[in-house]
Amino acid sequence: MTRHFLALHDYTKNELDALLALADDLKRKQKEGIPHRMLADKTVALIFEKSSTRTRVSFEVGVFQLGGHGLFMSSATSQMGRGEPIKDSARVMSRYCDGIMIRTFGQEIVDEFAKYSTVPIINGLTDLFHPCQIMADLQTVIEHKKSYEGLVFAWVGDGNNMANTWIEAAAIFGFELRLACPHGYEPDQNVMAWAQSKAPGLITLTTDPKVALRGADVINTDVWASMGQESEQKEREKAFAGYCLDNALLALAKPDAIVLHCLPAHRGEEISDSVIEGKNSVVWDEAENRLHIQKAIMATLIK
Ligand code: CP
Ligand code: NVA
Repeated sequence: MTRHFLALHDYTKNELDALLALADDLKRKQKEGIPHRMLADKTVALIFEKSSTRTRVSFEVGVFQLGGHGLFMSSATSQMGRGEPIKDSARVMSRYCDGIMIRTFGQEIVDEFAKYSTVPIINGLTDLFHPCQIMADLQTVIEHKKSYEGLVFAWVGDGNNMANTWIEAAAIFGFELRLACPHGYEPDQNVMAWAQSKAPGLITLTTDPKVALRGADVINTDVWASMGQESEQKEREKAFAGYCLDNALLALAKPDAIVLHCLPAHRGEEISDSVIEGKNSVVWDEAENRLHIQKAIMATLIK
């Protein structure tokens, strides 16, 4: 059966731990110049319906380092952008390619692609989830904190695709996650309900960033207006007043807390320049790890 990577909830903790271990191994091999051509002669299509810097470059470079070929496609320049049905695109593209990464809007689009594809589909971000990013974030946490076990994770900001994926991660991996989101900007209710039933009591939601941050080991934030929400920027700036991760808020966390941000960041909005450039920030390691974890995901899924 073809295995996809659409959401963390399709995977067990052991399976995700194995991906993290492989990512660590592939990172070491890449640094030491040890060949790891696990996708020799394979082609992976990379479909983008939204903008990207990290996802595009890390997937394209990652496929190349694994000995395969990455094929960039944008909806704007393909028939997908002119309304060709997803199920038709999926069946045609999976006759040519060995794997397909998609960045798009609704989660139902990647689900539909996976339903009709005969090759693995990887979610490179939807409105609901960003699973590759959270796996890169966890790789970064392990590098800096030895393990995610027993740590307190805090989310400050919008209850968006990143927050939803952290909620799934907390329930699967079993760590405490405290989210601070303004009224009206809470995470997805279905995701929250699923996580609460899987791991009762581990995930808490507040409107007060201070409550979430006090004593936290890992702090994460993201833009207030995600891709597709640009027209809401002004009203969101008002709703998120007091949610900027600045030195005053950071001081509530543990002194050795690490700060994550998936990037791109809006300095002075969700995070201050001094925090993202400061000693607690590990955002560049985090960005790099997209490369390594995605290589692990592709090498595991694509046969
Ligand atoms: N973090 C992330 O997915 O970045 P891009 O939008 O640049 O791909
Ligand atoms: N929440 C952001 C993440 C970007 C990587 C967005 O969806 O635009």
